[in-house]
Amino acid sequence: MLFLYLYLMKKSPIGIFDSGIGGLTIAHALKKKLPNENIIYFGDTEHLPYGEKSKTAIQNFSKKITQFLLEKKCKTIIIACNSASSVAYASVKEIAGNIIPVFNVIHPVVAEVVKQCSEYNIGVIGTKATIQSNIYEKEIKALCSSAKVSSLATPLLAPMIEEGFINEDISHTIIANYLSNKQLADIDHLILACTHYPLIHQEIKDYYKGTVDVIDSSNIVVEYIAKQLKNNNLLNDNNQTEHHFYVSNYTESFEKSAQFFFQEDLKLKEVNLWD
Ligand code: DGL
Repeated sequence: MLFLYLYLMKKSPIGIFDSGIGGLTIAHALKKKLPNENIIYFGDTEHLPYGEKSKTAIQNFSKKITQFLLEKKCKTIIIACNSASSVAYASVKEIAGNIIPVFNVIHPVVAEVVKQCSEYNIGVIGTKATIQSNIYEKEIKALCSSAKVSSLATPLLAPMIEEGFINEDISHTIIANYLSNKQLADIDHLILACTHYPLIHQEIKDYYKGTVDVIDSSNIVVEYIAKQLKNNNLLNDNNQTEHHFYVSNYTESFEKSAQFFFQEDLKLKEVNLWD
């Protein structure tokens, strides 16, 4: 009986959610690291951008999505959104934490960064929700009180990326405008604290011309989760995978992004979780 349960658990999908395409950067890194895993992705495009919403609203959206992923029999949930990880991790854990492991995208990055933190002057950029929660500074300083952390909200970046403005004059200008803020003047490391930002990682690196180490968290997060799933004996050993992509509001551009990331002719499904 236990054997059957474990067998079914291993084959169950990994549930990943974000407000939009940002979490695809995590899903993509996960697919590369763990190609045998089935994935169910939910992009809450109806409520994008999360970074501008209240804490209560983000918690309510996250709870509904968690319920949906539990109904889909996910074996774990990854909150692939810094805004939701900042303010709704406890809410998601309250619903799913007793049943399956729940991961956020903040703890693995903090754990990595603090390894040499006393030497660092760490910058953090993210949405208003993430930066106002001050979670990175609190978590980093809890583990390394001598660390210096400077945070800046960069709210135009996620909508800019969602609209496809990447590697264009307009994106260079917006990025330069934010990164030249005096708040970030003395940093030597920069955490991209929004899962949309790996899509402009190169542009940010180009801005700094090697003077700042730009930390793309997707691989750090996925390495951490892969280790945890292995320790819990939850990795799938069957290589016939299926990925399903859901959104709360269908857009062609989301479908194209998902196809681009997964190199599959996938179809998006629209579901309404809020009626
Ligand atoms: N990708 C998200 C994050 O990591 C949210 C962007 C948004 O919806 O504001 O914060």
